[in-house]
Amino acid sequence: MFIMRENTFKSNQHTAPISDAMENYARDGALAFHTPGHKQGLGAHPRLKKLITTEGLRQEVSLMEELDDLHEPMGCIKEAEELAAELWGAKETLFMINGTTSAIQAMLMGTLQPGDKVLVPRNAHRSIIGGIILADARPVYIQPEIIASLGIPGCLSVEVVHRAVVENPDAKALVAVYPTYYGMAGDLKAIAAVLHEHNMLLLVDEAHGGHLKFAEHIENMPRQALDLGADVVAQSTHKVLGSLTQTSMLHIGSDRVFGEKIRAAAALLQSTSPNQLLLASLDIARLQMAMEGRERLQRAVELSQQLRQEINTIAGLYCVGKEILTTTQTMALDSTRLTVQVAGIGLTGPEAEAILRHKYKIQCELSDNNNLVFIISMADDEAVCQRLLTALRDMAAENAGKEPLTVVVPQDLYQANEVVVSPRQAFFSPKERVRLSDSVGRIAGETISFYPPGVPVLCPGERITAELLQAVRQQQSQGMRVVGPADCSLGFIEVMQNH
Ligand SMILES: Cc1ncc(COP(=O)(O)O)c(C=O)c1O
Repeated sequence: MFIMRENTFKSNQHTAPISDAMENYARDGALAFHTPGHKQGLGAHPRLKKLITTEGLRQEVSLMEELDDLHEPMGCIKEAEELAAELWGAKETLFMINGTTSAIQAMLMGTLQPGDKVLVPRNAHRSIIGGIILADARPVYIQPEIIASLGIPGCLSVEVVHRAVVENPDAKALVAVYPTYYGMAGDLKAIAAVLHEHNMLLLVDEAHGGHLKFAEHIENMPRQALDLGADVVAQSTHKVLGSLTQTSMLHIGSDRVFGEKIRAAAALLQSTSPNQLLLASLDIARLQMAMEGRERLQRAVELSQQLRQEINTIAGLYCVGKEILTTTQTMALDSTRLTVQVAGIGLTGPEAEAILRHKYKIQCELSDNNNLVFIISMADDEAVCQRLLTALRDMAAENAGKEPLTVVVPQDLYQANEVVVSPRQAFFSPKERVRLSDSVGRIAGETISFYPPGVPVLCPGERITAELLQAVRQQQSQGMRVVGPADCSLGFIEVMQNH
């Protein structure tokens, strides 16, 4: 299958120290008078045994001396984090067991002081807004480009960042989303240079880019943020590589930040009883990538390029390709993200998603008004791609007679709203519930996002406008799922009292 790469690293990338320590503990046979209550599977329900396996439960222990401490790593976790740092090229790497959400929160809490200004693209994921609330930072929103032909937000331009930096010389950092959910990557190297010249940090939400390090030999693939000057990078190992859901890495890339402060923030945000299976999965995913990453990524890119070409032969469908590099701020496109526009066959994204899911038993990663996004990962093969292609051909043929839809461009969703009070102050302030239709002019007390991609269109502390409400209603009418507010049907919204 995959050829094990010759070990060109200084250390033992072919080992998995966390997994080794767990096996050794289980094999040692110590009688368990400790947590967890299932006692290495002895008391586990058969369904849990089936789910995790007997061996998995035997090793599902934590906090023993040989298993190390996530918050003060000195043994196998330290070793595993050092191996990851070496592989991704970080100065230091932290294993995270509450997703990239907690990695982003720790990144913000560990680099900012309360009251610090931070530049944030308007298409930031809600975990960034959560981090801003926790860190008590003041967001200054900057506008990514809106790609009208697709109806989605794209990348930040260097000019927009430069303008924001000049207008906000007291800002401490920019949090970039790189690459976007759609695999688009802007000129991060130039953005890093602008920020560093003005003594600001580049913090990167690279939730969708943990695999890029292993695609650096492939033409047109984006380079990973650590190699372009990022100071801190949060990566969802679980989203694109082989670790368990909820596991991520936080990489420290420069001496402009303090590792101890970031680690202290991570310790505040994460369990004191981290699940060892999650930690081991991060370690094993790192081992897998060290040994086979480049070959696996090569194959994923080849498969997706082939698939893209084939999809573009289907009448009415359009799969975004490298033409996007000449018409937008996108500098590089992650080939393994396939954005397929379905408006040409008369379907909205959610309609096409439902057809694929229920008729063809195919689940995409996300749908927006006009498009579907499919992820090809290092796990896929030709047969999988062929099934998707056949389903898309069939769906297009079935809808061939339909009038194409006009691409919806939800421009008003991505406008910077007026930030009247800080998100933290609004989050903690007394609130009242009003009808959404009566909320124009009020200050939001909660977040509204559509999921996926989980980008808040309204955050606590922001003034609600009629234009925003209209755009929100339009999204709802297109079948987009609302997350964030107490009333997800959006009959009511919580606003700040006395404002
Ligand atoms: C751009 C982006 N950032 C951050 C996150 C949060 O990652 P996690 O789900 O690992 O907490 C997501 C999740 O979808 C995301 O899409």
